[in-house]
Amino acid sequence: MKAIQVGLLGAGTVGSGVFTVLKRNQEEIQRRAGRGIEIAMVADLDTARAASIVGDHATVVNDARQVIANPDIDIVIELIGGYGIARELVMEAIAAGKHVVTANKALLAVHGTEIFAAAHQRGVMVGFEAAVAGGIPIIKSLREGLTANRIEWVVGIINGTTNFILSEMRDKGLDFDAVLKQAQRLGYAEADPTFDIEGVDAAHKATILSAIAFGIPVQFDKAYVEGITRLAPQDIRYAEQLGYRIKLLGITKRVPKGIELRVHPSLVPSKRLLANVEGAMNAVVVRGDAVGTTLHYGKGAGSEPTASAVIADLVDITRLHTSDAAHRVPHLAFQPDQMSSEPVLSMDEVVTSYYLRLRVADQPGVLAKVTGLMAEAGVSIDAVLQREAGEGEKQTDLIILTHDVREGAMNEVLARVQQLPTVLAPIVRIRKEELA
Ligand code: NDP
Ligand code: HSE
Repeated sequence: MKAIQVGLLGAGTVGSGVFTVLKRNQEEIQRRAGRGIEIAMVADLDTARAASIVGDHATVVNDARQVIANPDIDIVIELIGGYGIARELVMEAIAAGKHVVTANKALLAVHGTEIFAAAHQRGVMVGFEAAVAGGIPIIKSLREGLTANRIEWVVGIINGTTNFILSEMRDKGLDFDAVLKQAQRLGYAEADPTFDIEGVDAAHKATILSAIAFGIPVQFDKAYVEGITRLAPQDIRYAEQLGYRIKLLGITKRVPKGIELRVHPSLVPSKRLLANVEGAMNAVVVRGDAVGTTLHYGKGAGSEPTASAVIADLVDITRLHTSDAAHRVPHLAFQPDQMSSEPVLSMDEVVTSYYLRLRVADQPGVLAKVTGLMAEAGVSIDAVLQREAGEGEKQTDLIILTHDVREGAMNEVLARVQQLPTVLAPIVRIRKEELA
């Protein structure tokens, strides 16, 4: 049988990996897919660089629309990135009846509803395994392997760049900027690294996971997003002393009032496997009512790990593209007419526990005043750590770990504590996930 014909848009870090892995493993991939998978056309702005990657195995053009217009192309892989031209090209490919594979989480988190609806209507598949956690097959696991379960929560380290930065800062005492540059050199960081360090990339991925886990539409605009740029090295150290590590987590949970969808730095108990995921590695913990807790671990970025996920989608599409469209795995795991309207909760409604660091005057009664205000507000304290003031120092750090409390209530009490004359600097608040 003739090989299925693929057009590749964007021969950058991931695109070149797809080409290399497909070429290297083509024989085994063909035995799995049932027929060959051939990249016949490549579009990239830098045609000379693209030609140096693909040699004479594919036609190289600089206009991606030429690929979409080619009637011989069955599958279009979008590896350009961003919401601009990538969105236009994906929509045009779908309209032209091409199946699409993309690693573009930004595009899907923001425009997924429109893209999946168009694909459903046109009867084509959109594969996006590479969009979340790079090489880890978490989309397939959630959508197919765990399909029997009522998913309770999904919590993950889903941005390699920030995990790399936090690991290097903790292990080697390196400073933030130096480690970020290293992550960029290694190809982990997004073209615009603010997406990584401000939590936006993780929120794109968490949004996709949330949709698949709970059968809700992709709603990036409802996600709470906080990055790691304001984390101070002393909080990493205090957390360690208290038996925790700080990780940037993507969290989505089903709670009685709705769905939580949030990304922020979190203290995680050091004994949890998730706390020990280091460097650019990713890990996603999924809790289902039947299976219990499952951990999915692997490389979340990089050329070949991401290519591994892109090619898995190519194989799936190759196996399924002649099947009846109504009997394929739905894009978001649930049938399009069975999506839930459960609301995504505002951060004020989220119930979680906290690490607080207060810079206070080192004098009698300070701790009593702070804990008194917290007690009045019904905030229950789990642990207190007071750093011994150095010789001649008149200030000290007071660290408080709380039990679960509604974020709105916590905000109110923190505003009152902040007003105390003995609290000398803005209070640092980091949320805590026990993952029990
Ligand atoms: P790169 O920037 O390395 O590659 C993008 C490529 O697309 C570049 O070669 C660029 O050319 C080319 N390009 C830009 N505009 C056009 C256009 N109009 N037509 C054709 N080609 C174009 O990005 P990555 O490979 O790192 O990322 C690709 C996608 O994969 C993104 O959505 C990213 O978020 C996602 N992703 C990336 C991962 C990674 O580890 N890098 C991991 C998981 C997902 P030029 O350089 O000349 O501008
Ligand atoms: N910038 C992303 C990361 C790439 O660091 O995880 C993978 O999506």
